[in-house]
Formats: sequence, structure tokens, C-alpha cells
Amino acid sequence: MAFQQENHPPIVKIVSPQNNSIFDKDGSVTYQISVSDKEDGESKFDEINPKEVLLEVRFLKNGKTAPANPQNNGLNSIMTSNCITCHGFNTKAMGPSFSDINKRYPSTKANMDSLVKRIKEGSVGIWGKEKMPPHPELPLADIKNIVQWIAKNATDPNANYYAGIDGYFRFKPDAQKGVYQLTASYTDHGLKDVPGKKLTGEDVITVRIK
Ligand code: HEC
Repeated sequence: MAFQQENHPPIVKIVSPQNNSIFDKDGSVTYQISVSDKEDGESKFDEINPKEVLLEVRFLKNGKTAPANPQNNGLNSIMTSNCITCHGFNTKAMGPSFSDINKRYPSTKANMDSLVKRIKEGSVGIWGKEKMPPHPELPLADIKNIVQWIAKNATDPNANYYAGIDGYFRFKPDAQKGVYQLTASYTDHGLKDVPGKKLTGEDVITVRIK
């Protein structure tokens, strides 16, 4: 039997906070994630691009764990492309935040088509003087998934997203008491000679606001 090279899934761990931690509503939470991937490397040796590591903070309305969103294709494509270099989920960076883009464009077909076209071909002058480069390397299906994710999820009132292997976040000012699910995820780069075979690893914990 011929030797088959195999991509190994990344191992993602939320190092802090600890599972079941309790926070004050107006405190900030520092977090740290570790990633270990046989092909891509180890976060402790700075071999993982921190901008490709995602933390989702989701309020659980009835305390029940929810299916984690990071497995979503559109979100995966955002995290494995270069978008996070210029875009934040909720805060303006060089480009507008994904939640501001969501608020500006109601999800009509015309708007969705135009967003797909601008991500593909690049854009300038709509939000300001900064330029978005074209993305000829991204398959059209991936761009469509991304636009769908922005239209559907970027202003989900129960979820916030943070890119980065460590950092801190605050709960929203109107955050409700209860259980929050933290999901850390990382999608690897697959094997060089087998394009498209990427694997996602994730770790899920819950914390509580008292
Ligand atoms: C080098 C920085 C940079 C990168 C990389 C980048 N963007 Fe942008 N993006 C911008 C800027 C700046 C704008 C505002 C352009 C304008 O005003 O026309 C923008 C605008 C947008 C818009 C709104 C377009 C509109 O019609 O209003 C979307 C959607 C978007 N980007 C998605 C993405 C996605 C998805 C990626 C990754 C595949 C990405 N961007 C990568 C800088 C960037």
C-alpha cells in the first residue's frame, strides 16, 4: 500500500479563563489560547499566526450549550484569508468592522452581489480613502459564504468575536447575567500538495456573569 500523507487536526486549548469561572458584568476578561498543529507549528513558538485564531463569546439564553458557530464556512474563510489584517468584528480598523458592514447593507440580492464583487475586485471610496485590495486567490464560493456570514451573523446580539491568540474582552454594557459559551478555534493550512483539505480544531468552555 502506498504511503499516504495525512493532515492532522490542530489541537486548540483555552488556557484562560478556566471553565466555570465567574465574572462581574463590568469587569474585563483576559483570555489566552494555545494552538498546536503538526503541520503549521506551535503557538508557544510563535509559529501560528495569531490573527487566524478566533474566540467566539456567545450568551446562552437558557443556559444550554449551543452548536458553536466557528465551524461556519464563511467565518472559516474570513479567518484563513487576510481579512483580519484590516477588519475587526466590532471595531473599525483600516477597514470598516464587519458589524458596521452588516448594518449598512440590508441583505438584498443586489447588496450581496455588490459585496461579493468588491471583495473580489477591491474597493475604495465607499467608507473612506483607504483601499481594499482585490482577492483573486479566493474562490467565488468562499467569497459568497463570507458575505452570507456577514449578512447573517455579524450583528448577532448574542455573540461577539475576537481575533487573536490572547487579549481581553468586556461583556456588552447591557450584558445579561447567565452563562456564556467561549469557543476558541483555529483552521489549519492543510498540506501544501493537497489544497482544500483544511481541518479546524476547537475548544469550548462556559463562564458565568453573576
Ligand atoms: C489591506 C486591507 C484590507 C484587507 C486585507 C481586506 N479589506 Fe475589506 N476593506 C478594506 C477597506 C479599506 C475597505 C473600505 C473600502 C472602501 O471604502 O471602498 C474595505 C471594505 C470591505 C467591505 C465593504 C465593501 C462595501 O461595498 O462597502 C467588505 C464586505 C470587506 N471589506 C470584506 C473583506 C473581506 C471578506 C476580506 C478578506 C477576504 C477583506 N475585506 C480584506 C480593507 C481591507
